[in-house]
Amino acid sequence: MKQPVRTAVVGLGARGLYFARMYNQAGFSLTAFCDRNPERLELGRRYLGQNIPGYTEVETMLRQEDIQAVLIATNDPDHVPPAITSLQAGKHVLVEKPLCQSISDAALLARYVRQTDKIFMIGFELRYCSLFQMVRSLLEEGKIGEVKIGHAFDNVSVGGQYFFHNPSRQKSFFKTLLLQKACHSLDLLNWFMGSHPTRVYAIGGLDYYGRQAPPELRCRHCQKGKSCPYWLDYESFQLDYTTVKDVADFCVWSKEMDLNDNSELCISYASGGKATFHESHFTPEYSREFWLVGTRGKLYAYYDNPGRFLIRIEYAHSSARHTEEWKPPCPGGGHGGGDEGLRMEFLRRIITPGLDVRRLNEEALASGYYSTALALGAETSIETGQAVTIPALEE
Ligand SMILES: NC(=O)c1ccc[n+]([C@@H]2O[C@H](COP(=O)([O-])OP(=O)(O)OC[C@H]3O[C@@H](n4cnc5c(N)ncnc54)[C@H](O)[C@@H]3O)[C@@H](O)[C@H]2O)c1
Repeated sequence: MKQPVRTAVVGLGARGLYFARMYNQAGFSLTAFCDRNPERLELGRRYLGQNIPGYTEVETMLRQEDIQAVLIATNDPDHVPPAITSLQAGKHVLVEKPLCQSISDAALLARYVRQTDKIFMIGFELRYCSLFQMVRSLLEEGKIGEVKIGHAFDNVSVGGQYFFHNPSRQKSFFKTLLLQKACHSLDLLNWFMGSHPTRVYAIGGLDYYGRQAPPELRCRHCQKGKSCPYWLDYESFQLDYTTVKDVADFCVWSKEMDLNDNSELCISYASGGKATFHESHFTPEYSREFWLVGTRGKLYAYYDNPGRFLIRIEYAHSSARHTEEWKPPCPGGGHGGGDEGLRMEFLRRIITPGLDVRRLNEEALASGYYSTALALGAETSIETGQAVTIPALEE
């Protein structure tokens, strides 16, 4: 039996702590962790074990510990430096989404990804969820012919709770929720369209949250208390994949909020395909939906985290009009089983000899790059009122 892959986690926030537990079983062993905040290291020791060494610097950790793979779950603006350091040190790297927050950072990271013979992956776990794997294979089988048109919906009922309580979560930090949240669905849309985006026109706004409340108002002091639908228990807050403690509970109606809470995109693809994308943070449901119109039929896919998956294909271009439906099983676990799927794929790529690592890494890079470039291009379009060209990933 193969030895487990010795793994380190960088960034011990909600996601990093979740990773640290997940990647300390079946195939992986947690060898060290790192967070630049000593308080998070202390929390890590309490949750993960006093015997696992903790560091405040990635470089020191990689010098002192015998590590094969690094999982990077730092904040969105902090993905690139630890990823480059880990790649330079010859480690397999899985970096959380979004890949980065600028085209220039993507180009910089690409240089290091292209130099390594180790595995590079990005935290797009939904690509490894049974529903989206099946959508992709039905498209590859040609069940609806050539995909010409796509429509995707990111319905984020939890948007208020997840993003609009935290004053550090503004444009200056996240850039746009199209990047921080919707990058998963933008990546899936690109994947299903079988091409990369070349141009985007978008409209959007902050039409629901923000604008009224004093910036210092917090749920814990607010007279409305639990009668407010957005009241948040800062001591223990349930995310869809884990529970977090001590979270920011500033008012979602704060004057300082500047992230758009809805965006509508029109996208052109290199293949000639066209798509629309819709993101709303105040819809009643938490789900993702895709309509894909091909030359033979139309595919609908429905996703939610509990796994009520559905795929329906309608064929209308013949006298034998009919519908086919599938309900792919959800194995459970975070993100409709995608978190575990990603973990197993990272392991498979690390331990399987003879894989075309350069091709796999280039695909990972492209998925991270085009979802990032599309989100940033759309935000620029919203700000300027002009269509924006998406630069191709440089070779
Ligand atoms: N794939 C998914 O579905 C998914 C889900 C949740 C979060 N995420 C991503 O995971 C990342 C972390 O999210 P979170 O909610 O856990 O954030 P968080 O703010 O709770 O934690 C981030 C941690 O990283 C640490 N950190 C930042 N820069 C560092 C550096 N250079 N070196 C060492 N430590 C550093 C911070 O001190 C903090 O403790 C984000 O990029 C987020 O977008 C992905």
